[in-house]
Amino acid sequence: MSIAAFPKRLHERLRCNEPLSPHTTLRVGGPAEYYVEATSLRDVADTVHAARELGLPLHVLGGGSNLLIADEGVKGVVLCLHGMKSINVFGSKVQVQAGANLSTLVNRCSAEGLAGPQTLAGIPGTVGGALAMNAGGRYGEIADYVERVIWINPEGELQSLYREEIKFAYRISELRHGVVIEAVLQGTVGDRKALIAHARDILQQKLAAQPYSEFSAGCAFKNPMGQSAGKIIDLAGCKGLRVGGAQVSDRHGNFIINTGEARAAEVIELMRQVTQRVFEAHGIELQPEVQVWPRRGLQAA
Ligand code: EPU
Repeated sequence: MSIAAFPKRLHERLRCNEPLSPHTTLRVGGPAEYYVEATSLRDVADTVHAARELGLPLHVLGGGSNLLIADEGVKGVVLCLHGMKSINVFGSKVQVQAGANLSTLVNRCSAEGLAGPQTLAGIPGTVGGALAMNAGGRYGEIADYVERVIWINPEGELQSLYREEIKFAYRISELRHGVVIEAVLQGTVGDRKALIAHARDILQQKLAAQPYSEFSAGCAFKNPMGQSAGKIIDLAGCKGLRVGGAQVSDRHGNFIINTGEARAAEVIELMRQVTQRVFEAHGIELQPEVQVWPRRGLQAA
């Protein structure tokens, strides 16, 4: 199949064999068979429609900050919404498009006196990705602020959902089965200076505890109920453990870093070894938090 099979008006937004590793914070993985950079709702709708017509799988790329792409790359269409990133604050509400950076959103909210999303300071990625994964940390998660979300649902229909109609859980939501277009978040009105200081504090805590300047996909595993995966990985003696160019961070046990030339297969093998060691040491079976494309178990590749 070639680009010609796609509707003409998508051609200028469409690329074949687009390398994906530069679009991820871990910097591993092969190319996308087709890659579309959408700048409007129409681009998104046309892409969803074309993928369905052509029988191609559709993957939505956010900030690539929680993503492990296989070395062989991804079949089908990868849709990127970075061209859709408007943010409008109205008092205690903010309307934001999926491609906006979460950190830009937090900064805008603080600067315009909207309190709430500061708890998400320091979390990388886009708003669409954050909603799909229910991104969060010690102080809260994005679901805490959702009033409504407009998305293209798995049936391909444009739909507006209120918070209570959306299933959010720990680091996951049903929104990852469709394409988030935009959201309205609800906070409260606060003092700008205090909000800027609050967001800065949370960011500083993260910078102190996490290997921020290295290539990684954030936390590799979910926290088991009531425990910190980082701590139990650390206690199992995994810090510094290495497979090829992939290494368990010396700073935080739940971060796997690409020291330079890591391949996806090495990251996957390292995750398998960590899972095994933690199971042997603590009898706990870690579950990956990082999303793997194409989807598969964490067997050695
Ligand atoms: N700890 C260790 N050794 C380590 C890492 C942590 O002993 O190698 C200890 C820490 O000293 C602390 C406790 O474990 O006492 C918890 O660690 P931390 O505060 O770093 O929090 P976490 O539970 O490991 C969670 C989120 C992070 C988020 C932080 C801060 C998950 C899986 N992780 O980490 O989210 O940044 O809280 O809010 O939910 C992510 O989702 O990608 C992510 C990094």
